[in-house]
Amino acid sequence: PEKIRLINQKRKVMLAAHRGASEVAPENTLAAIQKALDSPADFIEIDIHQTLDSQLVVMHDATLDRTTNGEGAISDLPLSAIKKLDAGSWFKPEFKKEKVPTLEEVLQLVKGRKKLLIELKKGDDFYPGMPHRTIALLQKYHARSWCVLQSFHDEILQEIWQNEYNVPTHKLIVGKLPMLPVYFDVSLRFGYFDKYYRASAINAHHYFATRGFVKLVHNAGFKTFVWTADDPSEINKLVDRGVDGIITNAVSSLIVQ
Ligand code: G3P
Ligand code: CA
Repeated sequence: PEKIRLINQKRKVMLAAHRGASEVAPENTLAAIQKALDSPADFIEIDIHQTLDSQLVVMHDATLDRTTNGEGAISDLPLSAIKKLDAGSWFKPEFKKEKVPTLEEVLQLVKGRKKLLIELKKGDDFYPGMPHRTIALLQKYHARSWCVLQSFHDEILQEIWQNEYNVPTHKLIVGKLPMLPVYFDVSLRFGYFDKYYRASAINAHHYFATRGFVKLVHNAGFKTFVWTADDPSEINKLVDRGVDGIITNAVSSLIVQ
C-alpha cells in the first residue's frame, strides 16, 4: 500500500483521527478513541453536544437516531437516559457495549497522550453555556495545553474569544462544493478571514484546499487542517499543497512514511 508523506518542506503535517478511528470502530465512542490513541494520529477529532441536564456528550449528530438505538434530540434527554443507549451495534455487533461518552470520559482516557480537536456543535439552537462548560472541564483536567476547540459557528467562537478562555481555536468554514463555485469566490476575497484573527487555523473541506486556498490562508497568518481525506494518494496531494493538518477516518490503516 502507498505510504503517506507527512513531512512537507521540512514542516510536519498533522494527522487527525476524524471522530476517533472511525473506520475501524463506531465514531465518537471510547473504542474509536482508544484505536486512535494506538494509531499514528497526532490529534483526535471529536464532536460535542449538550444534554437536557447540561452535560457534554460526544456525538456527531444532534439526534440519537443514526448512531444509537435511541431517537430524538440529545437536548431533549438527560445524560442518564442517553447512557442507557447502545452506540456501537449500528457499526458492528461486536461494539454493542459502547455507550455515548461524555467529554469528561474522553479527557480522562486521552490524558494528553494525543491532542484533542473538539468540535462544538449546535442542535436546533445553540446550547446555552456550552463553551464555558467545555473550558471548565479542560481546566479540571489541565487539558488546555493539549486541546483545540473548533466550530463552524461564529457565535460559539466569539463566546470563547470574548471570555479570553485562553485555549487555541480553529474556525471551520463550509467547503466549496464542485457544483457551487460561488463559495470559492466569496471565501477567497482578500481579507475575508480577518475577522477570525484570534483563531490559529481556518479549516476547510478538502475540496476547498487548492494551492491558492492554502496560500491565501497562510498569507493571512493561519494554518489550515482539511477534512476528510482517507485515500493515501489524496492525502499526499494535500500534503504537497501545503496543508498543515489532514483530518481522516482512515488513521488506523495509513502507513506513514
Ligand atoms: O473536523 C471537521 C469536520 O469534522 C467537520 O465536519 O460534519 O464531520 O463534523 P463534520
Ligand atoms: Ca467534526
